[in-house]
Amino acid sequence: MSISKTTIDELKSRIDILDVIGDFVTLKRTGQHYKGKSPFSDEKTPSFIVFPRNQNFKDFSSGKQGDAISFIMEYDGLSYVEALKYLAKKYGVEIEEEEPSPEAAQKQSERESLFIILNYAKDYFKNTLFESEEGKNIGLTYFQERGFTDETIRKFELGYSLDQWNALENDAKSKGYNPELLEKAGLIIKKEESQYDRFRGRVIFPIHNATGKAIAFGARILKNVKNQPKYLNSPETDVYHKSDVLYGLFQSGRAIRQSDNCYLVEGYTDVISLHQHGVENVVSSSGTSLTENQIKLIHRQTENITVLFDGDAAGIRASIRGIDMILQQGMNVKAVVFPDGEDPDSYSRSLGAMGFQEFLKENAEDFINFKTRLLLDGHDNDPVKKAETISQIISSISTIPDQVKRAVYMKETSNLLGLEEQVLYAQLNKILISQKKERQKAASREQPAQLIEEIEQVQQKEAFDSVIFQEKESIRILINYGFNKIENEYNLVEHYLEELDPVEFTKPIYNDILNIFKDELKKGNVIDANFFTNHPNKNIRDEVLDLISDRHEVSENWERYRIYVPKEKDVLSDSVYSNILRLKFHKIKKLITLNLEDLKNETELDKITKLQKINVKLKTAEAEFSNPLGIVVSK
Ligand code: CTP
Ligand code: MN
Repeated sequence: MSISKTTIDELKSRIDILDVIGDFVTLKRTGQHYKGKSPFSDEKTPSFIVFPRNQNFKDFSSGKQGDAISFIMEYDGLSYVEALKYLAKKYGVEIEEEEPSPEAAQKQSERESLFIILNYAKDYFKNTLFESEEGKNIGLTYFQERGFTDETIRKFELGYSLDQWNALENDAKSKGYNPELLEKAGLIIKKEESQYDRFRGRVIFPIHNATGKAIAFGARILKNVKNQPKYLNSPETDVYHKSDVLYGLFQSGRAIRQSDNCYLVEGYTDVISLHQHGVENVVSSSGTSLTENQIKLIHRQTENITVLFDGDAAGIRASIRGIDMILQQGMNVKAVVFPDGEDPDSYSRSLGAMGFQEFLKENAEDFINFKTRLLLDGHDNDPVKKAETISQIISSISTIPDQVKRAVYMKETSNLLGLEEQVLYAQLNKILISQKKERQKAASREQPAQLIEEIEQVQQKEAFDSVIFQEKESIRILINYGFNKIENEYNLVEHYLEELDPVEFTKPIYNDILNIFKDELKKGNVIDANFFTNHPNKNIRDEVLDLISDRHEVSENWERYRIYVPKEKDVLSDSVYSNILRLKFHKIKKLITLNLEDLKNETELDKITKLQKINVKLKTAEAEFSNPLGIVVSK
């Protein structure tokens, strides 16, 4: 089969490479050319370049280059002729032979023959839906009852498969198609004695590849028959690998790029309903749990995913696990939950287009926030549950590759959970260290002893840092809020000094400041920042100046990410209470570390016994303080 030179020339004169590639890759202008992420490899920094002036592209990560036609050939694994046909359709250019004859199909490569037979089957199912009595009475009526318009049905090329054993097979044979190909395409099932159509008496949802070719089908049952699955799907074939395909991507790609966001839903009908209600940036993983490749397909189009969760709690809990994979690819994830018993399909129908779009806008919540709320729901006062929640959230955050993004989430989470960031960082670091350990383990099995030592050092340093951080917090609170009354009775300073009585601070300058507070209080003076800023010792003056400057200097960022920061004064007694607890907690942890260090180095038996007793006491104390703080203590 050939296409005339005039047709090719006509086509070439109409093709705009930016327009062709722009259907598959998000391109941004940089000077004379356009840049995007390579569609042929998995890259973070865009190195795929399109040159509009000479209508060429070059992909620096895979080395591929060429014009619009060769792009389509590469992208979809098509022959020159097939690529031309795709472009002819896109630009509305007439070519001599629209539908290849069955004889021509025989001569094509296996892959192309599959495309041809699948395309035939798609058309056959469509015709059956709109033209046969059974199709109209059963299939079309069903879609209409679900509220699908004719336009929607045509857009998604929905169809119907007759309730007969060999309807498709007989029609294909009568038109000269090879029945073996029908089996290879997953359309008929062959047994020893018999063979029959795979999808019988079902409505058909064609699954398209990126250029809009049918590569597989989903088929929904209409009757309520026992022991029959609701959906039957094509098996894996040479052209259909279900983990690499997203339902709706062909119809939604443009809207995803334009809106710079992709909604992710569960099923065929969700995708279709959303389109009908004006939300066209939506895809579905269709029954399989989300795969890395599917996420990559979305990532090439946008950095933003909004996951729509059906309103049943068990389902949500099961599917949020897959989301960490999205975070891991550095994408921004939001979540929307539907009311109990509703899915995106049913709810878009009940709210109507405007109401539904409004609902999505109002209810999209940042995923980390969403997960925190979900896990914490009703367990706010249960320390065990809270500790568990912290671990799970921190574990999600740890999968985010970008350090700055991680930091923003840490602030947010600290806020949501009412915990100091430092506490959360201790956990995050632990996970990051163990991830690093895993990576190193995987890379090489050598030097485990050295690795353990490294980790121990980090943990020890962490224990010290935490104490010093809390000491600094104490001083900061004393200086800024020493005057305030706690429970309408004590001055905060009095309360603090009483609580901290036997405690000495480890960092000398903090200890000096603490002693000044003590001495002045003995004289009956409650001092404030002014006292220190006029202090003769420069080190003390500088330290205090640092502590009275606004603690949330990153507030601009907080605003930008719409993180709510409570006014510290409003939560002062909470701050004081938890600071004191944490100070003690971290001091104990530090003592434990020191004690363990001594234990390691001790050789005399009775001294070891003594140190072990101390360790037990310290561990008990640690547990005592950790409970109200919602911290999990390792045994
Ligand atoms: N699915 C499947 N096989 C099944 C059930 C479900 O492949 N036996 C896939 C389909 O892709 C389906 C998706 O999982 O679209 C979600 O399933 P479900 O919510 O049960 O179906 P809906 O799409 O909501 O279909 P409907 O609204 O028609 O019930
Ligand atoms: Mn549904």
